[in-house]
Amino acid sequence: MKGRLENKVAIVTGGGSGIGEAISKKFAREGAAVVVVGLDSDPVRAVVDEILAEGGRAIGYLADIALEEAAESCVKAAVKEFGKLDILVNNAGAFPATSTIDKYPLEAFEYMIKNNIYSNFMMTKAAIPHLQKTRGNIVSAGSEAGHMGEPQNTPYGGTKGFIHAFQRGVAVEQAKFGVRSNIVGPGPIDTAWTHKETGPMDAKMEKMTTQGVPMGRRGTPEEVANVYAFLASDEASFVTGAIYFVDGGVTVSKGPHGDEVPSSLKKEPTGELELKHSKEGNTSVRKEALASMQ
Ligand SMILES: NC(=O)c1ccc[n+]([C@@H]2O[C@H](COP(=O)([O-])OP(=O)(O)OC[C@H]3O[C@@H](n4cnc5c(N)ncnc54)[C@H](O)[C@@H]3O)[C@@H](O)[C@H]2O)c1
Repeated sequence: MKGRLENKVAIVTGGGSGIGEAISKKFAREGAAVVVVGLDSDPVRAVVDEILAEGGRAIGYLADIALEEAAESCVKAAVKEFGKLDILVNNAGAFPATSTIDKYPLEAFEYMIKNNIYSNFMMTKAAIPHLQKTRGNIVSAGSEAGHMGEPQNTPYGGTKGFIHAFQRGVAVEQAKFGVRSNIVGPGPIDTAWTHKETGPMDAKMEKMTTQGVPMGRRGTPEEVANVYAFLASDEASFVTGAIYFVDGGVTVSKGPHGDEVPSSLKKEPTGELELKHSKEGNTSVRKEALASMQ
């Protein structure tokens, strides 16, 4: 396929569900060959099949990429299959529980250290030698929570703050090798995490997540994927060390402005990527952490 990522090879971690599904499909539409990475329980195969059915190029890779050996094997598999690596998207992550800090389960904290921080570090470390060869780039999932903090899941904001600072350091360190690194900081997005039925938020927290967004709604996975595609493309050739917030204005908001938005403007736009796995994310990680709270 022709597009902004023509002839590029990309790894998308957590590519089987939620925002990662949208990134995988968007990148394939833009011409990239995509390695869709996820845990055994993720619908990675389905996403790969959907990309192939559209005429795109993709393979799946099932592994826990927070583990050093698995991260290295994942990068090797991408290079073996497609000959090189141009783009690493560090999108994998977890949001396993909500609770005030005095009751926050240690297991959920450890899950996030592993799945948010180790995964980003391991994949970055393994990918850098290959990205130096192609003068490639990294785009990582940060969060508005990494900038502002996240009440009711304070360690989550901490893990995202790590990613912001870590990848900004990588951006400066690797600039002399022609490697860029940027961060996308989503606000509340329409995935499993931000719905009380599929994620750890209760009804009150779910309501507050959109009240605090001046645009009065969640973003869509596709709206986030569009920004990933720009940052990963050569159009962003002078952009490095940046955090692009895709948050409907939440980081510049001073209160519950979302309440003032008329219902006609609160509807999320319909995209073209036919996302089928946007609410299938992270369930195994979340269930285990929630079980440990009981
Ligand atoms: N949904 C939001 O509102 C929101 C807001 C800000 C930031 N983000 C970030 O966007 C990213 C995607 O979130 P999402 O809402 O699409 O969630 P999601 O659960 O649908 O996607 C995350 C995926 O990563 C996979 N994953 C987690 N740990 C892994 C590991 N060690 N190895 C391989 N795969 C692993 C999960 O299984 C899952 O498929 C996350 O990094 C998240 O922190 C999301």
